[in-house]
Amino acid sequence: MKILANDGISQSGINALESAGFEVITTNVAQEQLADYINKNNIAVLLVRSATTARKELIDACPSLKIIGRGGVGMDNIDVDYAKSKGLHVINTPEASSHAVAELVFAHLYSLARFLHHANRDMPLEGDSNFKALKKAYAKGKELKGKTLGILGFGRIGQATAKIGLGLGMKVIAFDPLIEKETLILDFFDGQKVSFTIQTISKEDVLKQSDFISLHVPAQKEYVIDTAEFNLMKNGVILANAARGGVVNEVALVNAIESGKVAGAALDVFENEPNPEVQLLMNPALSLTPHTGASTNEAQDRIASDLASQIIRILK
Ligand SMILES: NC(=O)c1ccc[n+]([C@@H]2O[C@H](COP(=O)([O-])OP(=O)(O)OC[C@H]3O[C@@H](n4cnc5c(N)ncnc54)[C@H](O)[C@@H]3O)[C@@H](O)[C@H]2O)c1
Repeated sequence: MKILANDGISQSGINALESAGFEVITTNVAQEQLADYINKNNIAVLLVRSATTARKELIDACPSLKIIGRGGVGMDNIDVDYAKSKGLHVINTPEASSHAVAELVFAHLYSLARFLHHANRDMPLEGDSNFKALKKAYAKGKELKGKTLGILGFGRIGQATAKIGLGLGMKVIAFDPLIEKETLILDFFDGQKVSFTIQTISKEDVLKQSDFISLHVPAQKEYVIDTAEFNLMKNGVILANAARGGVVNEVALVNAIESGKVAGAALDVFENEPNPEVQLLMNPALSLTPHTGASTNEAQDRIASDLASQIIRILK
């Protein structure tokens, strides 16, 4: 049976699938040629990340398909209900990327707290001629230890982020409309474990009390952070959005930066992906990444192994 991994798949997944007797094709077929390719090659499993879409028309046009798999969490690019109504299995790997996203959040928070996003731009240009001035410009860094980290959306990634924050000695508070309390298990390199229970509080209290705020909510119709929410935050707050473009109002964010309410913000996702607004790209208070939250080798390996074992379970 043939599997087309149209947006790529880690070698660990290819190995697992090949040893189970599948043929894995990693050619990247253009979206408009995909139905034709699937039919000509009798593809049984289509694997995608976020680039390839699997809509109703493709599903109708490709009767050989038995599984559509998404490496990652969000299935906005797949007509999931329609595929299921046609008898296809639709699978994803919701757990595999949580830690990778959480680590990227802290890479950004530390970067903003210590001005690395500026220093990395300035040192190549002025590091030899203007060292002392740069040293002074970036002297007022902040430590994360002892500060309050507010998490909006206390699901898989929110909890992974909380665990890192707890490990760093932060006070962690969280809001989630569906979760009242969660006991997190922090596991250490030698097998020791510490359990830590967090009772969620109101969104308003999280916004008012936090020094750092990180969003881990799904895409939704309304902004989760808009002008009213910025107004509740502490002056000098640092914000991170590695959830979905459109959960933070980017215009309100730029205004909150200009007013001094927000000292810095990290964006891994954008309202207008893949063409983020130039006002964001050029804003010196922002630490930016091109939607690379899940992009670690380890997460991609976990995604591939997870997809492989689900496919083997369904088809073997
Ligand atoms: N940056 C990246 O590369 C990357 C990678 C993977 C996932 N993500 C995104 O991260 C987000 C979280 O993923 P997850 O796996 O933790 O999802 P999850 O479903 O495990 O958790 C999301 C939580 O948000 C809560 N929630 C919903 N609306 C809320 C609101 N308005 N305020 C507060 N909480 C709310 C839900 O009750 C749920 O508990 C998703 O948007 C996902 O698409 C980003």
